[in-house]
Amino acid sequence: MTIAALSEVAADADDLSVWPASAHRLPHGGLAVGGVSLAEVADRFATPVYVLDEGEVRARCRTYRDAFPDTDVLYAAKAFLSRAVVRWVDEEGLGLDVCSAGELELAVTAGFPADRVVLHGNAKSPHDIEAALRLGVGRIVIDSPSEVARLAAAVGTGGFQRVMVRVVPGISAGGHEKIRTGTEGQKFGLSPADGSAQRVVARILGQPQLELTGLHCHIGSQITEVGPYAMAVRRMVDLMAGIRDAHGVVLPELDMGGGHGIAYRPGEPALDLTALARRLRGELAAGCAASGLTVPRLAIEPGRAVIGPAGVALYRVLAVKHADDRVFVAVDGGMSDNPRPALYGVRYAPRLVGRRSTAQGRTTTVVGRHCEAGDILAADVELPGDVHPGDLLAVPVAGAYQLSMASGYNMVGRPPVVAVGDGTARLLVRRETLADFRRRDIGG
Ligand code: LLP
Repeated sequence: MTIAALSEVAADADDLSVWPASAHRLPHGGLAVGGVSLAEVADRFATPVYVLDEGEVRARCRTYRDAFPDTDVLYAAKAFLSRAVVRWVDEEGLGLDVCSAGELELAVTAGFPADRVVLHGNAKSPHDIEAALRLGVGRIVIDSPSEVARLAAAVGTGGFQRVMVRVVPGISAGGHEKIRTGTEGQKFGLSPADGSAQRVVARILGQPQLELTGLHCHIGSQITEVGPYAMAVRRMVDLMAGIRDAHGVVLPELDMGGGHGIAYRPGEPALDLTALARRLRGELAAGCAASGLTVPRLAIEPGRAVIGPAGVALYRVLAVKHADDRVFVAVDGGMSDNPRPALYGVRYAPRLVGRRSTAQGRTTTVVGRHCEAGDILAADVELPGDVHPGDLLAVPVAGAYQLSMASGYNMVGRPPVVAVGDGTARLLVRRETLADFRRRDIGG
């Protein structure tokens, strides 16, 4: 390895820019988050374990509230939800975006006010709709023509439900093809270009028990530039003006979805929230003025940017292997707790914690323990050359779409979630055990 590459390793190892703001170095290679040593968390709760910095989640909620005054900020539960997170988000004054009866019931039974919840889904089950109506969800976002009559029937004559329409504004944005949802030709939303959005709007307006409050779009996820949002606002305002012209109805709400991108590794770009807020407001005001529309109340639905950077995954090294000229460091988790590298080719920046190493850096591939060659957590990352079984690796920016997408693959069991803050650690979600697998398997 060249001297330049070596100093890059040292710089990377020292760079805490993608870590929670509370992260700080301890003597002897230790690292603390929320005032708690990660090595101590690993000892106390075993590994793999997910650590969530409560202060970081709350601070991110506040950043949104400050950057987006007069906007409803709805946390997208799909990124990660637990009863404690429900409480934090509620206390910080955010609303909630859910996409199943499960997310909805967890939130409401944890005390979240149902009227601040929006229910999404391209294919809502009868159970989803029943739960939404029973619990009194604030808004249901309609995503297909057949849903209108089905929902109206479930609401019943004399009943009442506020709804929105999910629109595809025809914009391609997002960190990976699988998470781009703003274009035609994918399963989400209704297109104004082919008239299906306008047809569904007309159907809803014909149902007295449904009140159409506005339009919704979510153009994609892990978007790091403001431009696609600005274009989406313009198209949504055009559609709102068209609806006013056709039906004489001025819709009072516009939900621009989430998708705000974050850095997973030092140096990567993140969406500038202040710039986003300014641009959304500006485009909305200009578009509405030009079309003679009253400016609708804005809503946004960030998930990843609220919870992602607050999470840290901790793994214990189980094996080190040299194959060809590659070094594989195998840990006690993998694609069952984090399927994102396998699904989207996402790159992470793991780091050795809990001991100081003076060894030279070397290019290492961190792999999981599952029965697939594709079970790679971090390919070609720089780690000290003496990493060995028993060492602890920490992966920052692990709070979003990891545990919420975790599986029971190989019956390893999903890791626990531990909240840290003010120097204390407490268990939020316990580890999934063999007893859990056994209990579900009724034998037959
Ligand atoms: N609103 C709607 C309607 C959504 O579908 C989503 C995400 C969000 C808001 C929140 O997006 P965020 O701010 O978190 O980007 N599993 C993928 C991400 C899938 C996103 C799905 N929808 C990943 O791991 O990157």
